[in-house]
Amino acid sequence: MKRILVTGGAGFIGSHLCERLLAEGNDVICLDNFFTGRKQNVAHLLGNPYFELVRHDVITPYYAEVDEIYNLACPASPIHYQYNPIKTVKTSVMGAINVLGLAKRVRAKVLQASTSEVYGDPNVHPQVENYWGNVNPIGIRSCYDEGKRCAETLFMDYHRQNGVRIKIIRIFNTYGPRMNPNDGRVVSNFIVQALQGNNITIYGKGTQTRSFQYVDDLVEGMIRLMNTPDEVTGPVNVGNPNEFTILELAQKVIELTQSTSKIVFEDLPADDPRQRQPDITQAHNLLGGWQPTVQLAAGLHKTIDYFRQQVR
Ligand SMILES: NC(=O)c1ccc[n+]([C@@H]2O[C@H](COP(=O)([O-])OP(=O)(O)OC[C@H]3O[C@@H](n4cnc5c(N)ncnc54)[C@H](O)[C@@H]3O)[C@@H](O)[C@H]2O)c1
Repeated sequence: MKRILVTGGAGFIGSHLCERLLAEGNDVICLDNFFTGRKQNVAHLLGNPYFELVRHDVITPYYAEVDEIYNLACPASPIHYQYNPIKTVKTSVMGAINVLGLAKRVRAKVLQASTSEVYGDPNVHPQVENYWGNVNPIGIRSCYDEGKRCAETLFMDYHRQNGVRIKIIRIFNTYGPRMNPNDGRVVSNFIVQALQGNNITIYGKGTQTRSFQYVDDLVEGMIRLMNTPDEVTGPVNVGNPNEFTILELAQKVIELTQSTSKIVFEDLPADDPRQRQPDITQAHNLLGGWQPTVQLAAGLHKTIDYFRQQVR
């Protein structure tokens, strides 16, 4: 049995990861400051003797004897990461230093939940891991994008300098049950607006594209990456290359919820990337043929079911 620390474990992705790691027979410590995560996300795990929930902020060091660490702690939606941008940078950078220090000390393997945002507004399409990105260092998204870039740097430096066993995963847009309904992310926004019969707001013309991956596919990719041989550090893109325009997504959500909502258009916020699509060749090659298996309609169905219970 492995003892595994999941920072940000009470968040959307973290809660699914904790669930899966427990199901595989591990001992899981879920650490969270509950900034965007919620106890309800892991309430169903609290009765499991191999699950421990710890309130802690990753900007201060945490000590525990663990075999593996998944570092997910960081607000992920623009509304939340821009709420206190200085804190967002601290969470990414000091959080990374603290988990890496712990990993070094207890010789644990550590995986960083990085993001496709490290590519910024990309000039290369689809994005491959060796593309260095096109990121604005002084914009309102920079606290998140540059914080995550710096965290990647720290991971590589701890690996080169101290031999820490690291894995970097670059996560592309992910959706599923337990997304925060108020975080302004496109999938949850559209579903909530549709279920409430409100207008569906599209920023810009809706021609910007996104690729959406269902959370179960991501969790599978994360665990496979953690289990790769030590020489595999990443970064590895994990996402669904199936691309849709934002307008197509809105139409699909309206269709699946059978909503009467109308689509309305508003101005595009600053630095909103126009196009995002992962090249997942590396993930496929390094992670035992990994590829997304959940189709958009099937994933949306499960997510809509969840939000029906939340939004009344
Ligand atoms: N959801 C996506 O599409 C996506 C895409 C790319 C990367 N990611 C990354 O995956 C990770 C999880 O994202 P998510 O979508 O589950 O978001 P989330 O906001 O639901 O989860 C983040 C969790 O981290 C916790 N947290 C934030 N700051 C903390 C701190 N200082 N100390 C301790 N805990 C803290 C939050 O309370 C929350 O539970 C994040 O690192 C995010 O950057 C997510």
